[in-house]
Amino acid sequence: LRVSGSISRFPLIPVRGVPLMCSIANNWDTIWAFCPDPSDLLIAAYPKAGTTWTQEIVDLLLHNGDAEACKRAPTPVRSPFLEMFSPPPTSSGLDYLKNTDPPRIIKTHLPFQLVPTRFWENRCKVIYVSRNAKDNLVSYFHFDCMNKAQPEPGPWEGYISKFMHGELSWGSWYDHVKGYWAEREKRNILYLFYEDMKENPRREVERIMRYLDLSVSDEVISRIVELTSFKNMKENPMTNYSCVPPPVFDQSISPFMRKGEVGDWRNHFTPEQSKMFDEDYEKQMKGVNIPFRDLI
Ligand code: A3P
Repeated sequence: LRVSGSISRFPLIPVRGVPLMCSIANNWDTIWAFCPDPSDLLIAAYPKAGTTWTQEIVDLLLHNGDAEACKRAPTPVRSPFLEMFSPPPTSSGLDYLKNTDPPRIIKTHLPFQLVPTRFWENRCKVIYVSRNAKDNLVSYFHFDCMNKAQPEPGPWEGYISKFMHGELSWGSWYDHVKGYWAEREKRNILYLFYEDMKENPRREVERIMRYLDLSVSDEVISRIVELTSFKNMKENPMTNYSCVPPPVFDQSISPFMRKGEVGDWRNHFTPEQSKMFDEDYEKQMKGVNIPFRDLI
């Protein structure tokens, strides 16, 4: 990604039917061949579902709530983004992984079927974070406006349609959440909901702690909840993505830590758009019962 002057938004190229940024698609064989250590943890999510929040909670849990230790580097260095390929001089996810000893906290937005199989063969722990479709869509729309590496979002109405048709980067939200849901028991995946994290962050931090076989004191849990509040993560230069230069992330258009709320979709969807979306949602989610909520 050249950061001087204007940068070009990456077109999408399908990989096994899933549209991915061309920088990812063009390096697919290398990504697919990645072999994690059995001690590595994978945090998977559809883009804008709460990945960064979960990465921070996990890093703090692994460092017993030590805020300074977790300010050692920005999120993408502490928790590399598996499939992200950026032309030099910017480092790619695999470069960071090469330079970090296991156990590592690895981030991915890949749908279940595109996660390198060695994660499963090595029985890595996997945390999946999901978020209700409409808030996820709204967050993604604002992100695509400010992230100059992503394809142009275009107007709002058309963006809803692209989301419904699985035409955005990393493909269909519906397939993504269903794919991990179907495998969660067999693969021992911890399946989290953004809305649960907002409703009772302490409960969800404890859930993550147990899944990781960690045991930290009540006081440390309280500190982690505080350090990972929306407000604190927005102000923390190591979590707010101010590490990505403005020609790529133009946070004057929309901050990475934008709103952090449940139900913001009500400020964006018209009643007609909401009805049309809900009708299609029923069809796409037929037969699966993932307990999504958009009210808490
Ligand atoms: P909004 O755009 O709705 O504000 P991801 O990390 O997967 O890219 O997700 C980003 C979304 O999670 C953004 O949503 C961001 O504000 C929100 N987020 C990040 N940290 C958060 C926190 N500590 N509490 C609540 N929401 C958070």
